[in-house]
Amino acid sequence: MRTRKVQILVIGVLILWTFVTYYILLHNSSVQSDTKQKEQQQLKQLFPKALLEQSKSLKISDTLVSFLKLRYMNQETSTTPKITIVAAEISNELQEQQPKTTATTSAQIPTKTYLANGEPVIPILVFACNRISVVKCLENLVQYRPSVEQFPIIVSQDCGDELTKQAIQSFGNQLTLIEQPDQSDIMVLPKEKKFKGYYKIARHYGWALNTTFHVGFEYVVIVEDDLNVAPDFFEYFLATHKLLKQDKSLWCVSAWNDNGKANVVDIGSPELLYRTDFFPGLGWMLTKDLWSELSVKWPKSFWDDWIRHPEQRKDRVCIRPEISRTRTFGKIGVSNGLFFDKYLKHIKLSEHFVHFTKMNLSYLLKDNYDNTFLKQVYVLPLVTFDELRRNLIAKEGPVRIQYNNRDQYKRITRMLGLMDDFRSGVPRTAYHGIVSFYYNKRRVHLAPSANWKGYDLSWS
Ligand SMILES: *[C@@H]1O[C@H](CO)[C@@H](O)[C@H](O)[C@H]1NC(C)=O
Ligand SMILES: *[C@@H]1O[C@H](CO)[C@@H](O)[C@H](O)[C@H]1NC(C)=O
Repeated sequence: MRTRKVQILVIGVLILWTFVTYYILLHNSSVQSDTKQKEQQQLKQLFPKALLEQSKSLKISDTLVSFLKLRYMNQETSTTPKITIVAAEISNELQEQQPKTTATTSAQIPTKTYLANGEPVIPILVFACNRISVVKCLENLVQYRPSVEQFPIIVSQDCGDELTKQAIQSFGNQLTLIEQPDQSDIMVLPKEKKFKGYYKIARHYGWALNTTFHVGFEYVVIVEDDLNVAPDFFEYFLATHKLLKQDKSLWCVSAWNDNGKANVVDIGSPELLYRTDFFPGLGWMLTKDLWSELSVKWPKSFWDDWIRHPEQRKDRVCIRPEISRTRTFGKIGVSNGLFFDKYLKHIKLSEHFVHFTKMNLSYLLKDNYDNTFLKQVYVLPLVTFDELRRNLIAKEGPVRIQYNNRDQYKRITRMLGLMDDFRSGVPRTAYHGIVSFYYNKRRVHLAPSANWKGYDLSWS
């Protein structure tokens, strides 16, 4: 392998350099010292110095090698890294974990599944590993939680990191900590080694969801350890859980808008919700039924892209908000730093409290939505991207832009600062191919032609 050769070369050069340094140091000192004894003493002192230098060099070489690897592996330059967002959010564990044996002191998860008034108990399942910053997430959840009884917080910790565990436990009885008992190493092919973190994440999800649903809850909300949540986060899920039960074409409610950057959302419409064919993750609710369907074939890694595959999705859709109810604060690993700076950092976290439970949300049910939303989009004035960008549209109000192929889609979204990638052929936030956003004070729908035949799996 090319990187291997480079690695050996770099290490070789550095070792050589260390010895040259050592020799020069030795030479310099021997000029000054006259007695042999003194020389030997200095030699003794110099040797650790040289060793230290060498270990420093090795560290530098390590960094250099990782940098080179990164360069070689990410050679194709696309604006969006090939990495998947959802899994990446908790992928700091890509670094090797020291296998630590934690005593499995898994506490008892609250067992009440329904309240006296017939409403479901909806646990918030927080995934944690080795990031102490999980406290920021937990503080948010505890702060906005309207009812301890209805929304028990369950923190599932993998990785057995003691400091993180203590941080979680500092919340006392405000939450329940459960610990993933299987800390065994996962065997992966050498070329997959850099993805080991994703294998661990998938294993953790599988275990924690099984454990939580086993109690008998009808719904579970999943939160990753680097998410802030909005004030009406709980209200949002409380209002939408009924839709999940009612409408079999829905399979998740997500708090996340992939195109939720402040400049492309309608700040004045925090109550607005959409249906989307794209599974957003990042703070999402699923039902017991969906879990029993997925749990038996749960994948070993990259669960989020797996779930987006037609074999799993089966044309089902999620609900997503106009303005995100979660925001990630975690800057993620080296390869994802760019992605964070370019997109994730700019996602707007909603600040208003929308009383979703008091709203009529039936417009989101399939029949209503397809009869109104889809029809409306296709009777809107058709404009070109250029007209939109240069503000040449005379009339106010929503418009439609058409895209006819993959490259055109990519070009337009890039110019607008929207996400330009696909998963299983589905563009982020799309519903029937339509990506809706806000631009220059108007609603814009980037849509395929009206005789659209479905997603093309080869679009990536
Ligand atoms: C969850 O539990 C079910 C039933 O015990 C089992 O068949 C399945 O493999 C488990 N799934 C995961 C991901 O652990
Ligand atoms: C809720 O909205 C739907 C249309 O989306 C309408 O048919 C229904 O009558 C409304 N329900 C109430 C109680 O207003």
